[in-house]
Amino acid sequence: MSYERQEIAPEAVARQLSICEQIRSLRAGRSALALVDTYGCQQNEADSEKLRGYLAEMGYGFTQDEFQADVVVVNTCAVREHAEMRVFGNVGALNHSKKARPGQIVAVCGCMVQQEHIAQKLKHSYPVVDLVFGPHELWRFPELLKQVMDARERRDERRRVFATAPDEGAVAEGIPLRRDGKVKAWLSIMYGCNNFCTYCIVPYVRGRERSRKPEDVLREARELIEAGYKDITLLGQNVNSYGKDLDCGVDFADLIRMVDAIPGDYVLRFMTSHPKDATEKLFRTMAECPHCAHQLHLPVQSGNDRVLKAMNRSYTRQKYLDQVALARRYMPDLVLTTDIIVGFPGETEEEFADTLSLCEQVRYDAMFTFIYSKRVGTPAASMPDPYTRADKQRHFDALMELSNRISGEKHREYEGKTLRVLIDGETGKSEYNLSSRTGGGRLVHLKGDPSLVGQFVNAKITASNTWALYGEIAL
Ligand code: 5AD
Ligand code: SF4
Repeated sequence: MSYERQEIAPEAVARQLSICEQIRSLRAGRSALALVDTYGCQQNEADSEKLRGYLAEMGYGFTQDEFQADVVVVNTCAVREHAEMRVFGNVGALNHSKKARPGQIVAVCGCMVQQEHIAQKLKHSYPVVDLVFGPHELWRFPELLKQVMDARERRDERRRVFATAPDEGAVAEGIPLRRDGKVKAWLSIMYGCNNFCTYCIVPYVRGRERSRKPEDVLREARELIEAGYKDITLLGQNVNSYGKDLDCGVDFADLIRMVDAIPGDYVLRFMTSHPKDATEKLFRTMAECPHCAHQLHLPVQSGNDRVLKAMNRSYTRQKYLDQVALARRYMPDLVLTTDIIVGFPGETEEEFADTLSLCEQVRYDAMFTFIYSKRVGTPAASMPDPYTRADKQRHFDALMELSNRISGEKHREYEGKTLRVLIDGETGKSEYNLSSRTGGGRLVHLKGDPSLVGQFVNAKITASNTWALYGEIAL
């Protein structure tokens, strides 16, 4: 598939920053607050860091309370219907805060609004919304927000701004980021997806795969490490196809090696990997690079070949199992997680049983399971689906039970062991007040001084359950 890679000129991003400056000076020292509400995946979290970065340049402080906010931005997810319903509910509820705070500007952005029928619904049924912009327009958020502000100045209260033109996708560098914490950081290395799994809306709303240039990724990684970040996750819908669109001779494994060469005390992770593109070179690189976590999120989606084919996943059950065996040969301590969809259109009892047996065989450390959600415009939406919601729920429950059992068993194997963990935050609970992660990304609750946040320590695991490990700091 060929397409025009749309690189946003540095001057165009600089113009957005000068608009931020204008907005800041228009306010003439008066303080103002913004709320950014994020749904969905880590990509969206990373996008919200850009929105906050721009808002901070405009001089906004941040709040979680919509009744205090002068600007509310809802960054949405389109992957499943459930998240969309929550967005509609929460956007509708903003009527109350806007009444109490008449100057409030409400913006809705992200994957959901890139779908025409959703943009139309927001336009016609949600007058509370002033600004709507899709993922391709995020880089020019300041300009769009300023259009709304200018209309307010002109007392043109009914003027609303909609920017959701279809696009294959832009790559913009130089957008300021405001990260949530000081320990963990997301680092986007590519955007979009070319895989067109038949159930998935992502390729339609996020456009084609575009990789950031290796030098831009490396610059950001260096900045993060210098700033003291200790846990860096390289992000993309399908990181294994990194670089294919660039023709620069750097593939994903090469990129890992380049980042890993940056000196410092940190852990390097990545997600998500598509099994069809995971290579032996990648597993070898992970095993050889000292910073790289032995952790792989490798979504299988189904354990049945007919369903995998109908999903357009481009691998078979056996090929997937071979990949897992190969990865574990290189990294015997690999922490492996997956995504699974139950109730894909037409999935039979026997086909579902194949998913159960695959999970028994692989023994994932954690599984993220979803009931299939019909997405308008995707091929699966028009496939015959004779099974009831109750059948699907029964399968979902069975898979959950299996997943909990296996995670619990795997967690129990850690008891008595001492592991190196990174303390990444406070839990707010008194007994185990610190949260930390093992190299493989397992959650460990500890008791200790809050000043340890951001440090690597040894933890002796004393207890566990399905979701987490519990331990003591070992000296
Ligand atoms: N219905 C249910 N789950 C879905 N996912 C993607 N699209 C759908 C859908 N239409 C799941 C996949 C993917 C994860 C991010 O979300 O398992 O890996
Ligand atoms: Fe969706 Fe498949 Fe792309 Fe993942 S790889 S974003 S599931 S189309």
